[in-house]
Amino acid sequence: MSAGELRLLLLLLVALRARAGVGSSPAAAGLGLQVGFYRATCPVAEDVVLAEMRMILEEDRTLAPSLLRMHYHDCFVQGCDGSIMLRSRSGKGERDATPNRSMRGYDAIGRIKARLEAVCPLTVSCADIIAMAARDAVYLSKGPWYDVETGRRDGDVSVAMYAENDLAPPDSNIVDVKTFFSVKSLNAKDIAVLFGCHSIGTSHCGAFQKRLYNFTGRMDQDPSLDARYAEKLKKLCAPGHGHGHGHGAGGAKVPMDPGSGFTFDLSYYRHVLTTGGLFQSDGSLRDDPVTRGYVEKLANASSPDEYFADFAAAMVKMGRTDVLTGRLGEVRPTCDNLVD
Ligand code: HEM
Ligand SMILES: *[C@@H]1O[C@H](CO)[C@@H](O)[C@H](O)[C@H]1NC(C)=O
Ligand SMILES: *[C@@H]1O[C@H](CO)[C@@H](O)[C@H](O)[C@H]1NC(C)=O
Ligand SMILES: *[C@@H]1O[C@H](CO)[C@@H](O)[C@H](O)[C@H]1NC(C)=O
Repeated sequence: MSAGELRLLLLLLVALRARAGVGSSPAAAGLGLQVGFYRATCPVAEDVVLAEMRMILEEDRTLAPSLLRMHYHDCFVQGCDGSIMLRSRSGKGERDATPNRSMRGYDAIGRIKARLEAVCPLTVSCADIIAMAARDAVYLSKGPWYDVETGRRDGDVSVAMYAENDLAPPDSNIVDVKTFFSVKSLNAKDIAVLFGCHSIGTSHCGAFQKRLYNFTGRMDQDPSLDARYAEKLKKLCAPGHGHGHGHGAGGAKVPMDPGSGFTFDLSYYRHVLTTGGLFQSDGSLRDDPVTRGYVEKLANASSPDEYFADFAAAMVKMGRTDVLTGRLGEVRPTCDNLVD
């Protein structure tokens, strides 16, 4: 079976699983979530998270992008249910999956959870903490503030295979990306907006190495990557971490939005338009009329206002993915429990 066939098969499995019920619970559209869910039960919840996030980022500002990314991974794998935090006894949990590609920030979430347990025991879910921390990470990186919906409850199942099937690899083309995102009810505009997350943070060389050294298996370079940008990347990434596929996590770290890797701004869109972006998936935004139109518009925008409003809406939408609310799921005292 070719890599393309395998990927199609995996996508089919994802779609079937979504139809089989996991994605079609009454909570599928975010029912039961609301802004200020903890107003009565833990009024300080959002203040505690923000205060803790300020301290966490003061100690290590590179955790801002990591915590933003964690919300994306949590939501795409079995819904925003905090399951990304679970540790697996058998080594087959989400944390162990290939696309965890060096996920960081578990301790930061654990630290916020501990603070909240001290003031409001058994009240605030890990999934909500991850959603609030992602919002605060954006805000503290000079991005927008937005009202985050809360009321999620936590799942207790963590399966590496789900993460492998639900998260698009960085060598995806736009057709693949649209398939992965449409399974989560996110459309082409949502994709173009959410990819702006790559305005902050870094990637290991392994995730894009083959674009530089062995694109089609003939020791060639990705022709869609700007030649000058490719030269710079080669200086930062010596050959040997790509392993011929898009999931490698080895090697040095490089900024995904060079020159602006700590500021949540529009320069990501200019970067994608002019260089082809760090990952093929970033560059793929140029290959669809809707996503390309959006990238071109933002690359040229004189103010980030429209983007910030779109981003807030898209994050709220992503944050509704297959959530557990009401009596579903649980709120437990710690996030990183050991499960099978
Ligand atoms: C097709 C979709 C996507 C792909 C293929 C993708 C892939 C990746 C990869 C390979 C990395 C580098 C990890 C590493 O080597 O350390 C990364 C980092 C990151 N991703 Fe994505 N991503 C996607 C969508 C998103 C979305 C929708 C968000 C936000 C909602 C996001 C936020 C981030 C952030 C903030 C980082 C930086 C993490 C850090 O600095 O620790 N990504 N992504
Ligand atoms: C990610 O998965 C790898 C195995 O593929 C594992 O060695 C690593 O510890 C995981 N990362 C985290 C942070 O759990
Ligand atoms: C380049 O890619 C081809 C095909 O995937 C692979 O067989 C070969 O080993 C790769 N070469 C290097 C040096 O990585
Ligand atoms: C940006 O705006 C200028 C002037 O309005 C225009 O000439 C140019 O084509 C625009 N670029 C893009 C990528 O839309």
